[in-house]
Amino acid sequence: MMISKAKQTQCREIAALERENFPDAWSEVFLARKIEDESVIFLTVCAAENPDAPIAYCILQTLGTEAELLRIAVKKSGQGSGIGRALLTELFQQAKEQNIQKIFLEVRASNEKATRFYERSGFQKTGLRKNYYKQDPEDAVLMTKEVST
Ligand SMILES: CC(C)(COP(=O)(O)OP(=O)(O)OC[C@H]1O[C@@H](n2cnc3c(N)ncnc32)[C@H](O)[C@@H]1OP(=O)(O)O)[C@@H](O)C(=O)NCCC(=O)NCCS
Repeated sequence: MMISKAKQTQCREIAALERENFPDAWSEVFLARKIEDESVIFLTVCAAENPDAPIAYCILQTLGTEAELLRIAVKKSGQGSGIGRALLTELFQQAKEQNIQKIFLEVRASNEKATRFYERSGFQKTGLRKNYYKQDPEDAVLMTKEVST
């Protein structure tokens, strides 16, 4: 398993993981822009023999010393086997190197699996955003983590 910076050649497969995991899936073009964006840390997880077909990815938008986790997803068939945890650990390391002190994110109120995943990774629930999601309308739980802790 390799964790590395996302490449343009991986966009098609990342878009497929988007469609598998999110009702508001991002397009290849939109993902390609995030890969080029210098204020974004975009990481993928691949099997060494298949470098253009990531099995997981995460996208962190940095804003000075703060950052927002925009996306994290693992291929459905690989979920629950520690891949998400490994990816987040590497992301925290890279965020620390860029002097990011605080990471926040929004998660669907019904997404207990992700909420638990984030809590085990050191995030705390810090707020609620009513009707945050427009596609499949739902509230968002706001979660925050101090990177140094
Ligand atoms: C959320 C997600 C990224 C977690 O990645 P993962 O590789 O499946 O998770 P891991 O195997 O690394 O598990 C880490 C922790 O998450 C929790 N977790 C994982 N799978 C779970 C499940 N099926 N049920 C409940 N908790 C689960 C556990 O607390 C686990 O901790 P533990 O090993 O100490 O028990 C992944 O499941 C996913 O892609 N989900 C769909 C997309 C999504 O919801 N993204 C977040 C949107 S905000």
